[in-house]
Parts: sequence; C-alpha cells; structure tokens
Amino acid sequence: MKVAFFDTHNFEKDFFLAANQKYSFDIEFIETRLSVKTATLAAGSRTVCVFVNDKLDSGCVAKLREIGVEHIALRSAGFNNVDLASAKFNDLLVTRVPAYSPYAVAEFAVGILISLNRKIHHAFLRVRDLNFSLDGLVGFDLHGKKVGVIGAGRIGKIFAKIMLACGCHVLIYDIAKDPELAAEKNVQYVDLDFVCKEADVISLHVPLTPQTHHLINAEKFALMKKSVVLINTGRGALIDSRALLEVLKSESIAGAALDVYEEEENIFFQDLSGKVLHDDILARLLTFPNVLVTSHQAFLTKEALENIASTTLENINRYYRGQAVDADKVVNSRIFNSRSREL
Ligand code: NAI
Repeated sequence: MKVAFFDTHNFEKDFFLAANQKYSFDIEFIETRLSVKTATLAAGSRTVCVFVNDKLDSGCVAKLREIGVEHIALRSAGFNNVDLASAKFNDLLVTRVPAYSPYAVAEFAVGILISLNRKIHHAFLRVRDLNFSLDGLVGFDLHGKKVGVIGAGRIGKIFAKIMLACGCHVLIYDIAKDPELAAEKNVQYVDLDFVCKEADVISLHVPLTPQTHHLINAEKFALMKKSVVLINTGRGALIDSRALLEVLKSESIAGAALDVYEEEENIFFQDLSGKVLHDDILARLLTFPNVLVTSHQAFLTKEALENIASTTLENINRYYRGQAVDADKVVNSRIFNSRSREL
C-alpha cells in the first residue's frame, strides 16, 4: 500500500520507519511540499501524508481527488492548511494527530518565555565571547505575575499549570471552561480585553481559525501593558505581524518569543543560511534584541515524534482496512458518495 509522504524531514524519517515495522506500508518519502503544482507526485497513493506547511487549497484537494487520493493524513494537530470545504466536497477523509505531546509544546513555551525574560540566549553568546558582564541582562521574577493564557485546551492547560507552579496568577481566555482549571485558586476565566489589559505575560494556544486570525492586532496591542511579554507557539497568523512590528519599534511591549510566524511557510524547516531572506517583516523582527524566534520546533521531542508516527500510521491503517478512525482524529469524514458529488 503506497503512501505519498510530502515535505519529509530527516528529523522524523527514522521515527516513521520504526513505526512502519508494524504495518509495512510502501512509504514514498518526498522532500517537496504538497501544493496544486506537486499533487501529481501522489499518483498511485490512496493516502497522502502531509505536514503543517503543505498547502492543501481547493485546487490541490481537487487535483488529489482527480488522481485517486481518498485520504489526507495530517501528521500534525493543526489543520488550518487544508481547505476543509473542498475536502468535504471532494469526499476526502482528513485525519490528524490531535495530541502527540502537549507537554512538548507547553514546556517549550515556558522555555522561550524564560529565555526571553532572563536573556539566556544573549548570555550564552556573550560568555562564549569571554564577555562576562551582566549589564543588559536584567529580567523579572515570574512569581507573582499575571500570566494570560489564550486558549486553555490540551497545551494551554499544561502551560497554565506550570505557570501556577511558578507562583503566577493565571488569566484564561477561552470559549470553553475547563472545570479542573476553573477550580484552581489562582485561575480566573476572563475576556480577551481583560487579558490584554492586565497580563504581564500572554501566551497563545488557540487553533488558527477564521475567528482567531489576527486575534492579536493593533487594537489588542493598544490595550497591553508596556511591560508585557508575548509568547506564540500556536500559529503565526494569530498575531498581525505588521502590528507586532509597530509595537516593537515604538517600544510599546517588552518583547516577543515566537515559535511560529505568519509567513513561515517557505522559510521555516529549511536551511537558508547563505541565502537572501526576502521576508522584510521577519528580517526586521530578527533585529530586535527583545525578540526570540525559533523555527516551529515546540513539538520536537522524541516522545512527540514517536506518537506522531504511530498515530498517523494507525489512522492510515484503519482507513485502508475499512475500520472507523477514532473520532478525535477525524477532521473531515467521508460523507458524500460519488453520486452526491455529481449533484
Ligand atoms: P486544543 O483543541 O486542545 O485547545 C484549543 C483551545 O482553544 C480549546 O480550549 C478551545 O476551546 C480554545 N479555542 C478555540 N477557538 C477559540 C476562540 N475563537 N477563542 C478562544 N478560545 C478558543 O488544542 P491544543 O492541542 O492545545 O493545540 C493548540 C494549538 O497549538 C493547535 O491548534 C496548533 O495550532 C498549535 N500547535 C503548535 C505546535 C508547535 O510546534 N508550535 C505543535 C502543536 C500544536
């Protein structure tokens, strides 16, 4: 059974090869990203396995269907890169890995928060240069601070609990209330504007949807404290990057740690050293001493990669065998038959 595996990276290959010992699928590792232009590379596969930067717009999805693909197996939690209306229209099953390791992402969010605040990344480089001065490295205690968590689902909840353990007061904005978190002494469910006005740290953990696109924009930045630190391990487009650039230039916020970026698609996961960076916003962001950018690596732990590989292959296995894929792993089920597609 052939599986076209787009946007393959070395960091994940061994995990998939190990997990595939159980199934023996004929995995075709393709380095190219999936798009309408490259979709024909999947010819002969009923399943395409895709990652966060593969672009499954309506043209691509229609092309996949035309060449006989029936199943899009995302090896990620987020699915904002798939045109779901088109997948539905073309009767394609879309599956994902809903929770491969929320700990990996939450712990990384804490990591970049502390690194940015305590300037550990600057200190590391300084000391290697035999510069042992402490000037310019002053941070703040997390203890006693108000930490805003935008989206307290699997990842946000773990992040919130770590912040509680640090002695913070947690302000949560979420459309759904988690009863366990809500019962915590130092947790308060509030609206988004309240988080923006009150928080010393704001960390984003909502999925990217039409409702959350540019959730943090000029209007929200205007509400924030000058001392606020913004953390984004969710999706780049949760923040309006141009608005972020403006508040950084005007020194209206204290800093930002970003594992994701709005226009990361053709940049992140690639070695572009020695090349010209054509994205002026990212280029400018990288010049700020109070901005820490990482290349969408929050998920990158051994445990997460093992879970991604085993869950993705089990999703594919179930589909091939005609068994139901677990409901929490289905983004779009196949509901139309070929006749209804014609109507
Ligand atoms: P989840 O589905 O468990 O939690 C999302 C939370 O956001 C839920 O509590 C939900 O009620 C809330 N929410 C949804 N729409 C909202 C809205 N419009 N306003 C307020 N709250 C809203 O998702 P999980 O597993 O915690 O992941 C969150 C996101 O993290 C993913 O969607 C993905 O984009 C991102 N992610 C990033 C990774 C990285 O490596 N940087 C890795 C994995 C996920």
